[in-house]
Amino acid sequence: MSLRFSYTLIAPFYDLAIRPAFDKVRQNTLLDFPSGGRVLVGGIGTGLDLPFLPRDNHYVGIDLTTAMLRQSQGRRDGLDLNLVQGDSQRLPFADASFDHALLHLILAVVPNPEQCLAETARVLKPGGTLQVLDKFLRPDERAPLRRTLNVLLRHVATRTDVVFEHTLARVPSLKIISDEPLLGGGWFRCIRLEKCA
Ligand SMILES: C[S@@+](CC[C@H](N)C(=O)[O-])C[C@H]1O[C@@H](n2cnc3c(N)ncnc32)[C@H](O)[C@@H]1O
Repeated sequence: MSLRFSYTLIAPFYDLAIRPAFDKVRQNTLLDFPSGGRVLVGGIGTGLDLPFLPRDNHYVGIDLTTAMLRQSQGRRDGLDLNLVQGDSQRLPFADASFDHALLHLILAVVPNPEQCLAETARVLKPGGTLQVLDKFLRPDERAPLRRTLNVLLRHVATRTDVVFEHTLARVPSLKIISDEPLLGGGWFRCIRLEKCA
């Protein structure tokens, strides 16, 4: 099964399942999100971040799944937002064309998180910032259950075996500004990064 197919099936139920757990987290982590720039929202999904983002940015949301994009369209509420159907691992945007980027619940979803992170770094301007929110194993974490579940889950919804530090090691142009544990005993983290000049 492809991720596009499974997220097409998930789309009508996505908000019901995800919104209650993450609304507060989104509100808190997006409180100081920068204003006045061009912002890439990778794997925008149904647009659950949109209500918490500052109004005075220009947003470009990309997602693989048309059914998810259709729902984010309904959540734009006057935001300056362009929606693009595409792959976050092969972004259809020029180098250094965004001031900031968001990767919420997408870096650990795509088959190749290194490629997704590298592509996001490529389209960021030097000094641009990236906020990542997702579930990551620690480098020394064995997590046998999550690694076993990953064999199935990676094909239908998300990977559960991604180690952020290993992913970041492949993208030297990004440096960590902050790394905050959130839900699931720190399995979910909010990581802010900056593209080196
Ligand atoms: C778990 S949802 C996250 C949605 C949203 N970012 C959020 O925080 O609620 C993952 C989203 O990534 C999309 N997706 C999966 N693979 C993708 C890819 N290669 N490129 C872009 N989007 C992708 C899915 O269609 C889905 O909308």
